[in-house]
Amino acid sequence: MSGPRHFLDLDRLDAGTLRGILDRSVACKRAGGAARPLAGKALAMIFEKPSTRTRVSFERGIQQLGGAAIVLEPASSQLGRGETVADTARVLSRYVDAIMIRTTSEEKLLEMAEHASVPVINGLTDRTHPCQLMADVMTFEEHRGPIRDRVVAWSGDGNNMATSWIHAAVRFDFELRLACPGPLGPPKEMLDWAAAEGGRIVVTPEAEAAVADADAVVTDVWVSMGDEEDAGARARHNLLRGYQVDDRLMSLAKPEAVFMHCLPAHRGEEVTASVIDGPRSVVWDEAENRLHAQKGILLWCLA
Ligand code: CP
Ligand code: NVA
Repeated sequence: MSGPRHFLDLDRLDAGTLRGILDRSVACKRAGGAARPLAGKALAMIFEKPSTRTRVSFERGIQQLGGAAIVLEPASSQLGRGETVADTARVLSRYVDAIMIRTTSEEKLLEMAEHASVPVINGLTDRTHPCQLMADVMTFEEHRGPIRDRVVAWSGDGNNMATSWIHAAVRFDFELRLACPGPLGPPKEMLDWAAAEGGRIVVTPEAEAAVADADAVVTDVWVSMGDEEDAGARARHNLLRGYQVDDRLMSLAKPEAVFMHCLPAHRGEEVTASVIDGPRSVVWDEAENRLHAQKGILLWCLA
């Protein structure tokens, strides 16, 4: 094989590979964790943005597989004093077996991958969040069966989660309906890619139209990490108010439709408490599945 097995984005991997990772994640969940296939291996995790789930699920995941994790943050490492991502990649590659990075920009992720001689995993960028989607597809399938040919509706900001849902829709072959306000739609190049791949992606400003008879309803925060300093936060709220997932919107989906959210959530903004804490919400299983999904990803990267 040429070069390390990076897990950078779902569009860079083929459907068979992604299905294989998912199968391993499901197997890890079923097995419970007596095996130690990653004994002696170490994962470095770089966090330029906050994290609860990604950090704990990767650290716990590699521990349960027999390995160890080391966390680096810019403020307490030389990254914060201007050491380049490329040099950091070269150095970390001499110490650890894989690097996970949550970063402010896609460019840094790609720079890390270019200069690392070990696998690099995307733990979220401003553009995408592929690890989350592995857990999300796994969660949907646990509750609703195969996702192929099903309908997933997104209501909200066309952010890094929406874009990874676009990648997932193409790779796992389901219909994705994105209801976003015009100025906050997903990037055009992402939609062009999906169209060229034959993806079934519909973008509409109408939340009701997107959700009608859907098998899952998904949303995410109105203000993502990195958007905070944006003076337009209030404007975002105004644009997104009509996209809140509430009981009325959920009632338009299939009766057995599930509600999903990557978390953290803001009750009363993108979703009401009655929906996220209600019987159709699978958000806690979704959060748990981050742990199992990370194991599938680590096992694939370090195979
Ligand atoms: N969903 C998710 O990535 O959560 P964290 O930001 O807590 O890692
Ligand atoms: N869109 C959110 C996802 C958090 C997991 C953000 O980037 O802040």
